[in-house]
Amino acid sequence: MKLFRKELEELSCYVPGKPLEEVMESYGLTKVVKLASNENPLGPSPLAIEAIREEAPHVHLYPDPEARALKRALGLELGVEPEQILLGNGGEATIQLVAASVIERGDEVVVPDPGFSLHEITAAHMGGIVRRVPLLEDYSHDLEGMLRAVNDKTKIVYLTNPNNPTGAMVNKMQLEDFASRLPQEVLLFLDEAYFEFAKIDPNYPDGLEILKTRKNTIVLRTFAKVCGIAGLRLGYIVSTPEIICEISKSAGVFSVNRLAQVAGLASLKDKEHVERSVALARASLSRMMEYFDSKGLEYIPAKGNFIFVNIKEEGRRINQELLKKGVIIRPGFLWGWDSWLRVSCGTMENTELFIEALDGLI
Ligand SMILES: Cc1ncc(COP(=O)(O)O)c(C=O)c1O
Repeated sequence: MKLFRKELEELSCYVPGKPLEEVMESYGLTKVVKLASNENPLGPSPLAIEAIREEAPHVHLYPDPEARALKRALGLELGVEPEQILLGNGGEATIQLVAASVIERGDEVVVPDPGFSLHEITAAHMGGIVRRVPLLEDYSHDLEGMLRAVNDKTKIVYLTNPNNPTGAMVNKMQLEDFASRLPQEVLLFLDEAYFEFAKIDPNYPDGLEILKTRKNTIVLRTFAKVCGIAGLRLGYIVSTPEIICEISKSAGVFSVNRLAQVAGLASLKDKEHVERSVALARASLSRMMEYFDSKGLEYIPAKGNFIFVNIKEEGRRINQELLKKGVIIRPGFLWGWDSWLRVSCGTMENTELFIEALDGLI
């Protein structure tokens, strides 16, 4: 008798960005610039750091399983009821929970290709069949193609906005049209991990508006990116109280730790930190775009805190050479886009170090 579930045989794992420590150790480096996981180069809000310090002596106690204070504050911030929120150990945990709660063997999901691979991995894990819809020639989501890929077995359509790794955005009109034409029984999973960065564009749609009229909708957001607490693992989904209640049944009891709860609460209060984080991301990516323009390199206009660029070279080699120089990026071959790199925003100093390192190689 086989020990492991059949689905695991063919499942490929999510490949995360290389940790700083690993690259330092492997290449004997003392300074490493990590622009690989779309983290916040500003770090956490000082208010979050203070809250973590204050909470540290209490970590012998289990956290509030309901995370009531954080959910109340988040509900007020988003204009939803606390019952509409499910917090998780990172947004990734909520992605897993959704697939685990919804997908049965043979059910189908639709994803953009390339897209955030955790969506399809978690669905395939549950025995789901993944329908990948390639992007259009201009690198935008093929929304018509995604609608065509839906059939009576489709349970979830994942739409990441802005998309990861491309950074391209679906606008308000497009999303409203898409959401209204997607059969109502299909769950629309709107992954808005980069919401705060994208919303400076007036045409960027707020998924919570879609949720108001289309009930089978889930919106994902995270504290990992703009709030700079990726290491604490805190993300969430918002939907109807009924959907959240069902999905919560498979969530662990104490899945959001004490430090994450207080840091999340403090981060919500620090609007200035959010503004500074968004401004830094824009400045860093603008500098990169200026450099790419000077080199005649094609890139996709970035709506998140990262940029996808075609360096017209063998990306694996460039990736290795960059690693030797202590620069970690995400090579596009992971998505089958060999000559592309996904580069996260950095401090202005690290942005220059990346440009300098790349300039020596192309
Ligand atoms: C599109 C997208 N969704 C969800 C996540 C998960 O975020 P986290 O688990 O760090 O909250 C990420 C992280 O990189 C992402 O890029």
